[in-house]
Amino acid sequence: MELAEAAARLRAGEVIAFPTETVYGLGANALDERAVKRIYELKGRPATSPLIVHVSSVEMARGLVREWPAMAGELAARWWPGPLTLVLPKQPRVPGIVTAGLDTVGVRMPDHPIALDLIDRAGIPLAAPSANRFTQLSPTTAAHVREAFGDAVPVVDGGPCKVGIESAVVSLAGPAPLLLRPGTLDLGPMDTAAAPDGAHASPGLHEHHYQPRTPLLLTADPPSGRGRYVRVADLAADPEEYARNLYSLLHRLDREDLDWIALEPPPSGPAWAGIRDRLSRAAKK
Ligand code: TXA
Ligand code: MG
Repeated sequence: MELAEAAARLRAGEVIAFPTETVYGLGANALDERAVKRIYELKGRPATSPLIVHVSSVEMARGLVREWPAMAGELAARWWPGPLTLVLPKQPRVPGIVTAGLDTVGVRMPDHPIALDLIDRAGIPLAAPSANRFTQLSPTTAAHVREAFGDAVPVVDGGPCKVGIESAVVSLAGPAPLLLRPGTLDLGPMDTAAAPDGAHASPGLHEHHYQPRTPLLLTADPPSGRGRYVRVADLAADPEEYARNLYSLLHRLDREDLDWIALEPPPSGPAWAGIRDRLSRAAKK
């Protein structure tokens, strides 16, 4: 689908899928309650999971939040456009359905020319979760989106995503910055949210997200039988390349009807934190 058509559909309150540098998003007008409701329906996502709102400028982000602390300015100047979501107190114009009833909203400026152009053309901020069905693997190509949604969702094809795992989510709504979800950026030392029990400070922290259908094992000692064992070095020479290739690998192996997929545990260290986080959630418990 062409950008002009995608922008027109968004303005008309429809849901479309579009590329970002991290994963494809399932987007709709963040200020249109009915359009956002359709995202939840398509994904099969519980209404307790808040959505990230994508913007094409700092001004657009500031129009969605009540406060823009110095730290927000610093982080945005350093990392936007890029794979960083900032959680801040929301303005009343952001519908409660976007934030799952929370008083905060996650905002992010994606580092992808198509995403930025689309937001500019539509002239509206876009609420967009990853364009997969609830609990399944995030899509890093237009083909992944079509596998999940078929003809139900038109897709703007921007090729494979260059980052490959979802953005880091940082809350600036409390007294000190809090890392709710690690990504690929080295944000320096920061407190990390513990996995919530019951409450949903960040539902992305819940277990059983990002799962392939085939049981995924994180082990250097794979079982025998019909499976595939993938070492870190088989996939990538560094964490950036690993993140870029990970979901494509899992989508591909998931179609092979295996009894298991075993991945060698990734190294420790901050550069691998986002990858370790996604793999530990995707792995069979
Ligand atoms: O890279 C990404 O972040 C991708 C692309 C499309 O931008 N989006 C994405 O969205 O991964 P989703 O819906 O799959 O994950 C959103 C994450 C969840 O962990 C959610 O809890 C957190 O962001 N989040 C969003 N709004 C929040 C809020 N107000 N407070 C706390 N966490 C929030
Ligand atoms: Mg997701």
